[in-house]
Amino acid sequence: MARYELVKRSVALITLTNPPVNALSSAVRHAMAKSMEQALNDPKVTAVVICGENGRFCGGADIREFAGPLRGPPLVPLLDAIEAGEKPVVAAIEGVALGGGFELALVCHYCIAHFKARLGLPEVTLGILPAAGGTQRLPRLIGIPAALELITTAKPLSSRRVSMLTTPCPPDLDALLEVVTMEVKKKARGVMAPLACIQAVRAAATMPYSKGIKRESELMATLFNSGQARALQYCFFAQRTAGKWTLPSGAQWNNSKPREIRSAAIIGLGTMGRGIVVSLARVGISVIAVESEKKLLETGKQMVIGMLERDAKRRGVSASLNLLKFTLSLQDLKDVDLVIEAVFEDMALKKRVFQELSKVCRPATLLCTNTSGLDVDALAGVTDRPHLVVGMHFFSPAHVMKLLEVVCGPRSSSETIATAMSLGKRMGKVSVAVGNCPGFVGNRMLKPYMDQATFLLEEGATPEQIDKALEDFGFAMGVFRMSDLAGLDVGWRIRKESGLTGPDVDPKNPPRRRHGRRYCPIPDMVCEQGRFGQKTGRGWYMYDKPGGTNAKPDPLIQNLLEMYRSRYAIQPRNISDQEIIERCLFALANEGFRILEDGIAARPEDIDVIYLFGYGFPRHRGGPMFYASMVGLERVLERLEHYHQAHPDVPHLEPSPLLKKLVACGSPSVQTWREHIKTMHSHL
Ligand code: NAI
Repeated sequence: MARYELVKRSVALITLTNPPVNALSSAVRHAMAKSMEQALNDPKVTAVVICGENGRFCGGADIREFAGPLRGPPLVPLLDAIEAGEKPVVAAIEGVALGGGFELALVCHYCIAHFKARLGLPEVTLGILPAAGGTQRLPRLIGIPAALELITTAKPLSSRRVSMLTTPCPPDLDALLEVVTMEVKKKARGVMAPLACIQAVRAAATMPYSKGIKRESELMATLFNSGQARALQYCFFAQRTAGKWTLPSGAQWNNSKPREIRSAAIIGLGTMGRGIVVSLARVGISVIAVESEKKLLETGKQMVIGMLERDAKRRGVSASLNLLKFTLSLQDLKDVDLVIEAVFEDMALKKRVFQELSKVCRPATLLCTNTSGLDVDALAGVTDRPHLVVGMHFFSPAHVMKLLEVVCGPRSSSETIATAMSLGKRMGKVSVAVGNCPGFVGNRMLKPYMDQATFLLEEGATPEQIDKALEDFGFAMGVFRMSDLAGLDVGWRIRKESGLTGPDVDPKNPPRRRHGRRYCPIPDMVCEQGRFGQKTGRGWYMYDKPGGTNAKPDPLIQNLLEMYRSRYAIQPRNISDQEIIERCLFALANEGFRILEDGIAARPEDIDVIYLFGYGFPRHRGGPMFYASMVGLERVLERLEHYHQAHPDVPHLEPSPLLKKLVACGSPSVQTWREHIKTMHSHL
């Protein structure tokens, strides 16, 4: 009544055998139930195919059985069990799938039908209705109008070729497409592909197939030849390239074995520490979190638990709270496999922590720092194991942001680097190995980019104009909105510590010059007014309340800029969007070339991946280095020379030797730049 076979040692083939139409008699239902049980319980079986003998799938219930009492297993629970089964079930339909046979097909996870097959629900002709879920599943599958037509008329469908169908169209098609277009434009600024998809679907709805398919191919040709497709395909490969880290010593991803990490500790439960704890615990690593004071420990603990619970709820799993331990004592870290330090950005404090860790932790424990720019090697130097010290630079919020810069000090062993890279991967991060220098790759490049933005303010632009130009380019957020989100006080503190501003600066120093180069004090003036960004409700913009996210232009900033310009006798000028993009992004890429020269990044792909995953660089532009190559290196060089001539006191605008060298070599493609950097010194 149903034949069970194992095909290719992994597919269970169940053939209904009840001539002439393989009706679902009690014997067939019984045999099917047994066969399904066998298939679901056999670990060798990975999928099930149901078909009917003699080229007929199933003609439905056995009408002869209607007269008597029900015998054998009822159909509905049998069908429900097939649908709920964990293995995929495919209905292979030939001939007919009618009534109960069609309902059987409806519960299968996939259906394949011969184009001559007939499908339908003829129950109404017998004065009944499709009662094995047909009236419930079909409307869900094909919508109410089409389901009503099939169920109430009993007209069978032939299995038509999809290209011959007309597209079911809502009456308000234009309004629907308009809404989707707006959503797509908002989510993916300036990206062509989703808009082209909408146009293609419009063609499906409004044209016959032969014309629609032509439109599809025209749209594809436009996309295929666009820079965006090239950029997005480059991003796909760049991400894979970045995983294949390589050091000049010959150590690389495929010859260095990572250690297994079962337990970790985090020092400091502030903004970053909390996110790192969550990232580790949710992949099953037990974590000891350390704070300096009881109250901070308790606050941190509650925050971490809340974050883990929300995260687990979203993923439909249970929160791994049993993996967490909270303590005030470093002594509890004796046996952990790895420590990540995330205390304040203060070298003296970090050194003290590393010295202490070096004493407390067993000799094999890896010691990592989340510093956003301090010298990783100086920290390694205060420990008894410099080869086991590495930077693991997460981005905020650490449990959300995908990027991890693995900062290799000159003494970090290849095993240490491999372990940090593989731990990053395990946490779902995109890890990029970088060398040790102030700011590493991402933050080092950010400086010239942000400098240009503030210089443009001096010269006549507004924060909203600059942000708009960058957002139109494709950034999720312009530089000023991003700074407001991150908090302006962080950079202010760093500038004070490095003697650029604050009471320690010699008042005889001209305010707009530091260390022999142009300096813009406007960000310091904004901070002096207690405007630290979103968290204080005021920054480059104003917000409804502290912590608000709705940025509005602030007339006070406008006043501040006007007063500033008049104090320094700066005649404001109209600045074009093109100048904004060129000065910000070419300065950014120029620093990228220097980073390649210095061997802080091994390849342009690494830099691009850092900017894509850590700094919101638009993916359809490929990253700053790819973007420079798309604009044309010759043009980038010419524009940098032009801007450097106009602003000779801005060294970041002076074209880097590598850029000049690449232009002299005929501007080779990004993927081959590495060959031109080979001879230079590497910090990796
Ligand atoms: P935070 O100020 O939010 O947190 C630091 C935490 O460390 C505080 O809770 C403090 O009580 C604790 N702490 C200080 N000394 C300690 C000690 N001796 N033992 C245990 N805990 C101690 O700072 P945040 O933002 O989390 O930054 C931490 C580190 O991460 C810094 O090095 C920072 O540069 C870096 N970083 C920060 C990013 C950010 O966007 N906030 C991004 C990437 C890195």
